[in-house]
Amino acid sequence: MGYKDGLVSCIMVLCLVCLAYRVYADSYLIDCGATSNTTIGNRVFLADRYAAKYLSTRPNILVKTLSENNLLYHTARVFRNLTSYTFPISQTGRYFIRFHFFPFTSKSYDLSSAKFMVFAQQFKLLNEFSPPKVSVVKEYSVLVNTNRLTILIVPTVNSIAFLNAIEVFLVPDSVTTDYATLINPLPGYKDLVTMALETFYRVNMGGSNIDFDGDKFWRSWIQDDRFLEQKDLSIDIHKYGAANSSGLVAPLVVYESCRELNSQNDIIANVSWNFSVNRGFQYSLRFHYCDIVSTSPDELYFNVYVDSLMISEDLDLTSLAKGSLDTPVYLDYITPELTTNTLRVSIGPTAGAQNQPNAILNG
Ligand SMILES: *[C@@H]1O[C@H](CO)[C@@H](O)[C@H](O)[C@H]1NC(C)=O
Ligand SMILES: *[C@@H]1O[C@H](CO)[C@@H](O)[C@H](O)[C@H]1NC(C)=O
Ligand SMILES: *[C@@H]1O[C@H](CO)[C@@H](O)[C@H](O)[C@H]1NC(C)=O
Ligand SMILES: *[C@@H]1O[C@H](CO)[C@@H](O)[C@H](O)[C@H]1NC(C)=O
Ligand SMILES: *[C@@H]1O[C@H](CO)[C@@H](O)[C@H](O)[C@H]1NC(C)=O
Repeated sequence: MGYKDGLVSCIMVLCLVCLAYRVYADSYLIDCGATSNTTIGNRVFLADRYAAKYLSTRPNILVKTLSENNLLYHTARVFRNLTSYTFPISQTGRYFIRFHFFPFTSKSYDLSSAKFMVFAQQFKLLNEFSPPKVSVVKEYSVLVNTNRLTILIVPTVNSIAFLNAIEVFLVPDSVTTDYATLINPLPGYKDLVTMALETFYRVNMGGSNIDFDGDKFWRSWIQDDRFLEQKDLSIDIHKYGAANSSGLVAPLVVYESCRELNSQNDIIANVSWNFSVNRGFQYSLRFHYCDIVSTSPDELYFNVYVDSLMISEDLDLTSLAKGSLDTPVYLDYITPELTTNTLRVSIGPTAGAQNQPNAILNG
């Protein structure tokens, strides 16, 4: 008996280890320009010299400032020539790539004058990029199906490029399977796997901003208020401790809050969010839902629109969640190439609503 018990707990430990390994395999965090390792939350960003082995060119131009609170923004590496980082990859898959930029002025370089391009594998991620005055993080996810990931930094003529920090790590499969359900993707979705995606907005409806350390993959989420069209049409709902989720697809708190139609209004209208985007591109939208408002299953039915197109009709979250309330689900949608610079997402009542008209969105 004792032996068997021992064996069982031994296997459990192994599983934990391999899970941890799966999440953190091939993770590269670099604090460019830094002379010592930098710990941010529970992660260590390597000092620049430990990452020099991934660089294609030798000249080390490292600059620093003291005028910023964020440790990652104290230093930067300046690139005057085409330079690449080549990271060995042992596990193929989709990788998050984050670039941190904070343009400061050092003795010999004014980083705000930089103008450059960045490529990852065959994808151009940044084109003639000039950093804004404030700090900015650019986040992408790119499929890596070879044994290395090459990131190319190309200054434009007579210009420089720089990086304050870089993050490269695997997005585990569980981010797309988790406890959440992926609904039949629309045609065209398959191509998404091979595309490079840039994160535009990650929004927590009805909730608060979520800092990188509140997310298992250090993603930041922002409040939805600034995108909301008519605030009085909706209310925000919080139900802490309600949602059952591992927090991989989205942090638990995303599901514990939502924006709901304001049923106190005489007129029941759509609740809409406006996002500023770039025409000519396709956008991938992930709708996070968790029915924290119903008191019993199958009470809530609503429609979801992207611009004026209905993408979900009579959406029934409890049937998506196999009969359970408080269970996260998500739906992915890809837009056609956009012809305008705004993207509007709306939720609204269904036509033949037998129940109280309502609609929600969590993230
Ligand atoms: C910085 O991190 C690297 C990789 O974890 C480690 O090898 C090195 O010893 C660390 N350096 C210091 C000064 O802690
Ligand atoms: C690197 O850039 C410097 C200054 O712009 C230039 O003089 C030099 O030729 C470049 N080196 C290479 C290898 O391109
Ligand atoms: C949202 O976009 C629509 C159409 O582009 C525009 O008419 C409306 O004023 C915008 N609302 C907000 C709050 O930006
Ligand atoms: C949470 O969801 C998982 C997966 O669907 C399920 O196995 C588990 O029983 C649920 N836990 C609770 C408390 O409902
Ligand atoms: C919600 O928006 C859609 C698309 O713009 C529209 O067809 C529908 O009538 C709107 N619903 C309500 C209740 O205003």
